[in-house]
Amino acid sequence: MSVPLLEAQGLVRHFVVRRSVFGTPTATVQAVDGVSFSVAAGETLALVGESGSGKSTIGRLVLRLIEPTAGAVRFEGRNVLALDERELRGFRRRAQLVFQDPYASLNPRMTIAAILAEPLALHDVVPPARRRERVYELLEMVGLEARFARRYPHEFSGGQRQRVAIARALAVEPKLIVCDEPVSALDVSVRSQVLNLLRDLQRQLGLAYIFISHDLAVVKHIADRVAVMYLGRIVEDAAAEELFRGPRHPYSRALLSAIPVPRPRARRERQILQGDVPSAIDPPAGCHLHLRCAHAVERCRIERPLLTPEAGGGHATACHRWTELPPAGSVTPADAPSPALDRLVAAFSGAADVRAGGGVDTVETEFAGRAGPASVR
Ligand SMILES: Nc1ncnc2c1ncn2[C@@H]1O[C@H](COP(=O)(O)OP(=O)(O)OP(=O)(O)O)[C@@H](O)[C@H]1O
Ligand code: SF4
Ligand SMILES: [Mg+2]
Repeated sequence: MSVPLLEAQGLVRHFVVRRSVFGTPTATVQAVDGVSFSVAAGETLALVGESGSGKSTIGRLVLRLIEPTAGAVRFEGRNVLALDERELRGFRRRAQLVFQDPYASLNPRMTIAAILAEPLALHDVVPPARRRERVYELLEMVGLEARFARRYPHEFSGGQRQRVAIARALAVEPKLIVCDEPVSALDVSVRSQVLNLLRDLQRQLGLAYIFISHDLAVVKHIADRVAVMYLGRIVEDAAAEELFRGPRHPYSRALLSAIPVPRPRARRERQILQGDVPSAIDPPAGCHLHLRCAHAVERCRIERPLLTPEAGGGHATACHRWTELPPAGSVTPADAPSPALDRLVAAFSGAADVRAGGGVDTVETEFAGRAGPASVR
């Protein structure tokens, strides 16, 4: 079997958020709580989950922008956490980051030419005499004209700025780009253009992406595989097509049932998780979802469900009971609409769609549970 481009094993990251007057930690956020996944060359793995589920922290961990509390990251078979300074520079050429807000990540006092030439010089990607030409090539790759090289970031639209940020990431000829909500700040009209650009570049250059998003419609458009996160853990990891066709974990089912469907008359069971996401400072024991899941049994309150792949397959689910649950889409209708579900829908789809009903004709179904203290974006 070939070595994956990137492999994360048992990643844990805690943040101390409160200390006593003596400096002893008194509250710790379990931002990432034992996460394992791999990304193949040329593949897009989407990380999806509500706000605070740990997506960005994973992105920063795999790029070694922050150190893990525990766990391992391997890139092209090498232990990223053991790299010395010189090796780390080499790794930074191979693995890049594109942020949500391109305006914040581009220096407003530098021209686009200078912004793109900087990584070329820093990593000695091309000889000095070739840098100007390479800047023009990079602009062309992301669909911008050469004359834009002399302009400053504020002279661009949001979509154009994100193209510049992508060009800057490409300057060092990476193999992996972590895209952290790369289109969330863009107008809906330019989102698909930037997503198409990312897909085209992937095909041309054989890039792999870790694509972080809370927008399932966007994920459906771009992902080969999807890892669904809940409170610092991956609860389901599957090929995108398989996940969207038949989510297994109760949390994934609730998320997917909240996406507006394109056909106005299509009916779909909407699965409800009542209550909000519990605090990551003191998450529930056992399965983190047990306070909100109607299928919870005693075992769920005590024992953490492991992310277990089905025999011979690549679809992994972290639920003690997923094999016993009725197939997604054949659940019994229940009654009251839930404010928590509305917030979930708002977090995972366009707010306008939600308010307008989004053309979705749904049947409310089965989930119950107790409310926790934290909020859903
Ligand atoms: N530097 C930090 N110090 C303290 N807590 C942090 C820090 N960074 C992240 N956290 C906490 O870790 C948890 C996970 O945060 P993270 O930013 O990874 O979530 P996310 O899934 O990317 O959310 P969003 O969709 O809002 O971007 C949250 O509870 C967050 O408050
Ligand atoms: S059935 Fe149990 S293990 Fe599965 S999601 Fe519900 S609470 Fe978690
Ligand atoms: Mg984030």
